[in-house]
Amino acid sequence: MLLEIKGLTVEFHGMRGMMTALENINLSIGEGEIVGVVGESGSGKSVTALSILGLLEKNATVSNGEILYAGRNLLALNKKEKQAIRGKEIGMVFQEPMTALHPTMRVGKQLVEVIKRHRHISGKEAAKLALQSLKDVHIHDPESVFEKYPFELSGGMRQRVVIALAMSAPPKLLIADEPTTALDVTIQFEILKLMKELSQNRGTAILLITHDLGVVSQLCDRVAVMYAGKVVETGGTSEVLHFPQHPYTRALIDALPDLADVNDTLEAIPGEVPDLRNRPIGCVFSSRCQLVTNQCKQAAPALEEYKRNHYAACWVGREQNGSAHSNSATS
Ligand SMILES: Nc1ncnc2c1ncn2[C@@H]1O[C@H](COP(=O)(O)OP(=O)(O)OP(=O)(O)O)[C@@H](O)[C@H]1O
Ligand SMILES: [Mg+2]
Repeated sequence: MLLEIKGLTVEFHGMRGMMTALENINLSIGEGEIVGVVGESGSGKSVTALSILGLLEKNATVSNGEILYAGRNLLALNKKEKQAIRGKEIGMVFQEPMTALHPTMRVGKQLVEVIKRHRHISGKEAAKLALQSLKDVHIHDPESVFEKYPFELSGGMRQRVVIALAMSAPPKLLIADEPTTALDVTIQFEILKLMKELSQNRGTAILLITHDLGVVSQLCDRVAVMYAGKVVETGGTSEVLHFPQHPYTRALIDALPDLADVNDTLEAIPGEVPDLRNRPIGCVFSSRCQLVTNQCKQAAPALEEYKRNHYAACWVGREQNGSAHSNSATS
């Protein structure tokens, strides 16, 4: 595995006390694989991404777990070592392209600087590579975009430039947190297709965070479904979408194809997300689950492999499927 998150627990400390944003999550990404992370707002998707990148805010504590990247625990690295990995080994693309761009520097210059940071080459050679990288993200007039400032470009063009920057090393892993959410619907899919193409050409793995199961079904090899800071189900995309085991996954799928907005899903599932300051002792989904039993309220089910490479954390599903494999992953 290229990246392996094991038992990661992240807490935030604030004026209103402590809350657990991630509780004992496991997630892995193989080389060149595209793994989707879905879940409604507040489920912990971005905290997961920031944990990998070493960009958690100061009020966060990692109270348990490890994040192994090519066998090294990213959580144990110092600031300098983290910086060395970020950008070169692990690239990132966020929702708002402007946050990744220097507002008053021409696009070409930004690309040249990043390329020179990763390779020891002349300015002329770097400029040539920069131009090529704009072509690689299907910008049709790279020479003109090279000379432009970010504010002169459309949102979609800016995100292409950000992807070109993120892929310049090229990294082994790209973390994309809702990379198309801020963009016009008509170009969202083009950008996602572009990311998949780059991933295939360069062998870059992608962790794709989205609230759109449609996106997952089109792009991702595997998917992890998150709810209230837990991974409640994970497996091959088509397996999980065709044979969902967790009632939350099922509810998300039932809400398709109108899943333009995660709030639609909330309406479809009665009840509220548990208070992360005071997590339930039982299953995190028990307060909203239609299949809830006493057992669900008393103890949290671990993520168990009920079928080869398909894991779910649900007491009821486990009973319906007979015996889950006993040597399963912990939740
Ligand atoms: N710096 C912080 N301080 C306190 N709480 C935080 C902080 N960052 C995130 N959280 C909390 O952690 C939880 C998980 O947040 P996260 O941003 O990972 O959700 P998300 O799944 O990315 O949601 P969205 O789909 O809205 O982006 C939320 O309850 C959020 O309020
Ligand atoms: Mg987020």
